[in-house]
Amino acid sequence: GAPIEVDLSPVAEGQDIKVFWRGKPIYISHRTKKQIDEARAVNVASLPDPQSDEARVKSGHDQWLVVIGICTHLGCIPIAHEGNYDGFFCPCHGSQYDSSGRIRQGPAPANLAVPPYTFVSDTKIQIG
Ligand code: FES
Repeated sequence: GAPIEVDLSPVAEGQDIKVFWRGKPIYISHRTKKQIDEARAVNVASLPDPQSDEARVKSGHDQWLVVIGICTHLGCIPIAHEGNYDGFFCPCHGSQYDSSGRIRQGPAPANLAVPPYTFVSDTKIQIG
């Protein structure tokens, strides 16, 4: 599949959008300061799939989270801005992901995957 460009300028703080890349749903979250602070306050070593928030976003664009919206349990599509961790909730078997897309609770074994992407400008990313 070809790379896609996504204009982020219409996405207000606190909102999420879903786009499709290679047939996969991609969530792009414009995180609030509260969501970023929550993601960074966690003891990384305590996580089921330990990854820092900093490692999951692009430096200087920390408000933007870009993840593949496919639950790492059995492949359902989690719901954005839901659940106990200000992130994503999978309705199939109750996996809870945080505002960094990391698994926090439930049967999913791994964090939501981050697709390859780059910022081509302050308000535009290329995925793929
Ligand atoms: Fe998401 Fe099972 S597929 S919790």
